[in-house]
Amino acid sequence: MTFRKNFLWGGATAANQCEGAFDLDGRGLANVDLCPVGEDRVPVITGQKEAYDFDDKNFYPAKTAIDMYHHYKEDIGLFAEMGFKVYRFSIAWTRIFPKGDELSPNEKGLEFYENLIDECLKHGIEPLITITHFDFPMNLCEKYGGWRSRKVVGFYKNFVRTIIERFKGKVKYYLTFNEINMILAAPFMGAGLSFKDGENQEEAMYQAIHNEFLASAYATKIAHEIDPTIKVGCMLNSGVIYPATCKPEDVFEAQKVARDNYFFTDVQVRGYYPTYKLRELEKKGILPEITDEDKKILRENTVDFISISYYTTKTVTSDKKVALSKSNLQKTIDNPYLQRTEWGWQVDALGFRTTLNEIYDRYQKPIFVVENGLGARDVADENGYVDDAYRIAYLREHIKNMKDAVEIDGVDLFGYTTWGPIDLVSASTGQMSKRYGFIYVDCDDFGKGSLRRTRKKSFYWYKKVIASNGEDLD
Ligand code: BG6
Repeated sequence: MTFRKNFLWGGATAANQCEGAFDLDGRGLANVDLCPVGEDRVPVITGQKEAYDFDDKNFYPAKTAIDMYHHYKEDIGLFAEMGFKVYRFSIAWTRIFPKGDELSPNEKGLEFYENLIDECLKHGIEPLITITHFDFPMNLCEKYGGWRSRKVVGFYKNFVRTIIERFKGKVKYYLTFNEINMILAAPFMGAGLSFKDGENQEEAMYQAIHNEFLASAYATKIAHEIDPTIKVGCMLNSGVIYPATCKPEDVFEAQKVARDNYFFTDVQVRGYYPTYKLRELEKKGILPEITDEDKKILRENTVDFISISYYTTKTVTSDKKVALSKSNLQKTIDNPYLQRTEWGWQVDALGFRTTLNEIYDRYQKPIFVVENGLGARDVADENGYVDDAYRIAYLREHIKNMKDAVEIDGVDLFGYTTWGPIDLVSASTGQMSKRYGFIYVDCDDFGKGSLRRTRKKSFYWYKKVIASNGEDLD
């Protein structure tokens, strides 16, 4: 068998994309609540349009999402039916600390997650918690300007200590920040940043990044102090960067863009800023203050493993005249050798293997793939069944390449969770119609529908994949 005996197969979700119940049981308002579906979404998530409250013209999908808050038992039951070994979910900070800066937590919020964890354990499913998945209390945005402020690190430490102490003995795996490198592409969603006119946006982003690095290192320290057997990981939005041609300038550009991503894992895995980034930020005059204490914390609290999301590769060119693809929040040009999804994301299964190799070559740390999947427009029949052969084909090719990376190339991989095992709200577009699930949810882009859950064709396929530990992919 290629995959280890206890390989962690499962699925991944994020609180704001599935829970709904945005104001129940004391939950406070979060940045993610204020990201509407439609044309205002990108300006809001990128911090170009300030959002402090709801308006009448927009629909805000996170308010209700798929109401997992009330359906979690049914949903986890379905995950168990597929044979999940692990379920990755995130904690909404504002359920635990509604304003972010309180001293004591909201018991109702803790209870909700404790029940969810117990439900997983009841089914023999390992819970994997993302502490922050694009989630940030609005009160901290208003008072401190998001992750720009060092003060937020203290509030985050309090949040982390509270949940890790509470779930001690039940949860072994934590991720600190989902896709930490997405701050650069979606600063409001990733770090609660919206910008003032004339502000140096890059400077604000690197300040926020430094504070998230500190918060992540402190979280690792706290977790290990509470329970030395806990494993803490970082999380990178990954994907190899191809040069458009073999022209040296294109190759150099590709290296530069790859470094902009690996900068994050370089700090979190190695424990210090790489010189290429120090030089760049110094030259631009935007290097954040890095104290001796910061350096010590970063160095002494590196992560135990690396987790990644993988959807696509990116292609770059030194030719400034070539248009960027509009379909991806991150900068890429179109790659003529690849097919695209309906949302324009380029599908590259071999690129998955290349990515896994690149990361393992760079760090030699265990890897956990915590997101991979196909967003597609599914059409359900009157019974709610979807014949999603295209999703099966996508996942089959990706898992084959993941297998090759393990079996032939020797990558140390210990888990794989597909993104959105149940249909949920899309992070980039806010749509429900961009579906990833094995389970169909009757809900449209504007929150209308019965919320009935039904099994798709891929549900039965993934069950077989898990039962055979990745050997049967037919
Ligand atoms: C990752 C995020 O970027 O990709 C998820 O961690 C997100 O939150 C997923 O949902 C898929 O992207 P999208 O935009 O299709 O939902």
